[in-house]
Amino acid sequence: MSEVYDKLISCYECVRKKTDFVPKVAIVLGSGLGDYAENIRVEYELPYSEIEGFPVSTVPGHAGKFIFGFIDEIPVVCMKGRVHFYEGYPISDVVLPTRLMKLMGARILFLTNAAGGVNTSFHAGDLMLIKDQISVFAPNPLIGANMDELGVRFPDMSTVYDGELQQLIRRTAKDNGIFLQEGVYAQLTGPSFESPAEIRMLRTLGCDAVGMSTVVEAIAANHMGMKICGISCISNLAAGMTANPLTHEEVQEAADMAAPNFKKLVTESVKGMKKLI
Ligand code: HPA
Repeated sequence: MSEVYDKLISCYECVRKKTDFVPKVAIVLGSGLGDYAENIRVEYELPYSEIEGFPVSTVPGHAGKFIFGFIDEIPVVCMKGRVHFYEGYPISDVVLPTRLMKLMGARILFLTNAAGGVNTSFHAGDLMLIKDQISVFAPNPLIGANMDELGVRFPDMSTVYDGELQQLIRRTAKDNGIFLQEGVYAQLTGPSFESPAEIRMLRTLGCDAVGMSTVVEAIAANHMGMKICGISCISNLAAGMTANPLTHEEVQEAADMAAPNFKKLVTESVKGMKKLI
């Protein structure tokens, strides 16, 4: 058995010593959704630091714990704080939490993030439904011996973001009067923001939003057969699109401003998943 698989299983066993909660939906909270837990009937919280071997995030605003609870009777696990590749973890550690939530029982993965807007019709504060992704600028988390227990060697990637879930989120946004952009998300490694030339390149390639997460998690979840959906909060227009230099603080502030609609869209969409799980 591979080291990566052994570590995953030992983390799973560690979680199971603490809780027997079985989530149906896994939600990864990006910047701006930090205090999302107020929308959940919380049953149990598990700091990442209590799971032996689990990667613990070092980014300010990404304090790490699993929150187990219910959104309208649907059992969910939320990741408050995720691990990024740019923090220096091996890519297998970056996707370990995603795999762990699948092992806990989650069938649906709801990914959220803050992203730079690449599409020139986007504005800071917009929400964007992720329709597809570009992974070629991030390391593939499936490189290495395939873990046959998790999925096949060469997974199909033609519908990573589930069509039914996309429809549900579109309808939910409409019903709640929330404006929703749609587009393709690309993950770059970071931690430096992109250069204006890189943003022009990404736009040429068909990318609408850019960030430093999400894509590798979606690859790992797709490998394991999860149904995936995702929403980006466009926290800024990407480099070169405005006169201003980019800062982490600006990203955080804009994401905080968009947070009420973001939280509402996530919560109401999860409620609508009742018939899909
Ligand atoms: N680039 C990359 N990642 C980001 C950005 C950006 O402009 N904004 C928020 N996350």
